[in-house]
Amino acid sequence: MHKQTIKEVLEKYKEFLHRDITVYGWVRAFRSNRFIALNDGSTINNLQIVVDFQNFDENIIRNITTASSLKIVGEVVESQGAGQNIEIIAKKIKVLGDNFTEDLHSTILQPKKHSLEKLREQAHLRFRTNLFGAIFRVRHAVSFAIHSFFNERAFFYMNTPIITGADAEGAGEMFGVTSFDLENIPRTEDARIDYAQDFFGRKTNLTVSGQLEGEAAAMGLGRVYTFGPTFRAENSNTTRHLAEFWMVEPEVAFNNLEDNIDLAEDFLKYVIQYVLDKCKDDVAFLDKRFAEEQKQKPERDRAKEGLIEKLENVVKKRFMRVSYTEAIEILLNSKENKKGKFAYPIENWGADLQSEHERYLVEKHFEAPVVLFNYPAEIKAFYMRMNEDHKTVAAMDVLFPGIGEIIGGSQREERLEVLKNKMQMMHVDPEELWWYMDTRKFGSVPHAGFGLGLERLVLFVTGMTNIRDVIPFPRTPKNAEF
Ligand code: 4AD
Ligand code: MG
Repeated sequence: MHKQTIKEVLEKYKEFLHRDITVYGWVRAFRSNRFIALNDGSTINNLQIVVDFQNFDENIIRNITTASSLKIVGEVVESQGAGQNIEIIAKKIKVLGDNFTEDLHSTILQPKKHSLEKLREQAHLRFRTNLFGAIFRVRHAVSFAIHSFFNERAFFYMNTPIITGADAEGAGEMFGVTSFDLENIPRTEDARIDYAQDFFGRKTNLTVSGQLEGEAAAMGLGRVYTFGPTFRAENSNTTRHLAEFWMVEPEVAFNNLEDNIDLAEDFLKYVIQYVLDKCKDDVAFLDKRFAEEQKQKPERDRAKEGLIEKLENVVKKRFMRVSYTEAIEILLNSKENKKGKFAYPIENWGADLQSEHERYLVEKHFEAPVVLFNYPAEIKAFYMRMNEDHKTVAAMDVLFPGIGEIIGGSQREERLEVLKNKMQMMHVDPEELWWYMDTRKFGSVPHAGFGLGLERLVLFVTGMTNIRDVIPFPRTPKNAEF
């Protein structure tokens, strides 16, 4: 038998009217021993169940409390009350499992307001709350829209390895992978760790990016994208960094930097529009939460736009395209910089931009998403294409309001000799990346790609402020619970 979800029942209620149906869910609230608000996770909306307690065994009624799990058979009728079209007159109620109500008061399931910190400590239970239900349904929609966008544009979804010998970013922020007994690590004669004896016969780590393997795939399949977990052992304890996050990385043969920026802009707009279209109830809920949160803040810190307004504006506005050099001029001349308001003052061309600078450009100066391009070669990864000026590379970062960098990408250095020199300069060993060098040897072509941090985009569309709240079980420095 087809089990209908509560979402289906509420949306297609006319089909169900005056029929008996079976629904399953958890009790969100039980009022006056008569009205159960039932939720099964399919939607933020609850289904109202009306219980005439004379018709039921007292034991059953006693077992219906917050969080209990129920199977209900009953008739769908038009609702007398405000707030819902229909309700179910219960005919049969089955309590599906244990519910230790005496332990409930110490959990976040107790119906009252809990802080986000408290919810994080009980991340295994927060799926039951309205807020996290909404966030994770939106996260799903974002992922689905990503696949849909690339599929419509004839990209192939490519799975790149999670365990790898490569450091794709050349930044050394990797978690090692080994099967050595750490109490007893094999050593070579000169006392170095003998990786030849390790599981893979070499040093390996969790991937920081699937880009290099993605490039290899693009050199045969043309348009590919990877979408998987990536790992960074950077000790950044911020509201924007995770040690384990999901990254989407398209890589496109024959694309240059401008094509790459066009792709990134279309992509972000597509995904945001998809969420606006498909997650109306959840986004409306998040919009309200966002507005309430803003009210708690001092006036000058409040967002100028509501959540939905912000999302609609990003879809409408053309992203500003600004070179790094222009951005430095703007920052050097800004009041903030002159008055020493930045924690990291901008002193000269060549400075790496911090998130305070990115947010100044986006939120104060341009008041629109900004794509910065042509960064100094020194502050970017080895694989980015050297520009004619021999100072800058064909890099691009997309900066979003409230987030800062949401996408990082570039046109790739496709010229073997230039790439080799660059790697030597940046202390990346071409021998170790021999296979990557090979992709530049046999019909090398201009190509470009970028990486989007999934959680940064989910942060943006949900209006949440801490990245730990948009991934089910966050991994951050000193935290790997669950
Ligand atoms: O700028 P990043 O480091 O670029 C790369 O990894 C390239 N290989 C991508 C490519 O060109 N294929 O990372 C890309 C994006 C960032 O813009 C950010 O959104 C996200 O990944 N990101 C993180 N998200 C959460 N936690 C972290 N620690 C992140 N580091 C990067
Ligand atoms: Mg970056």
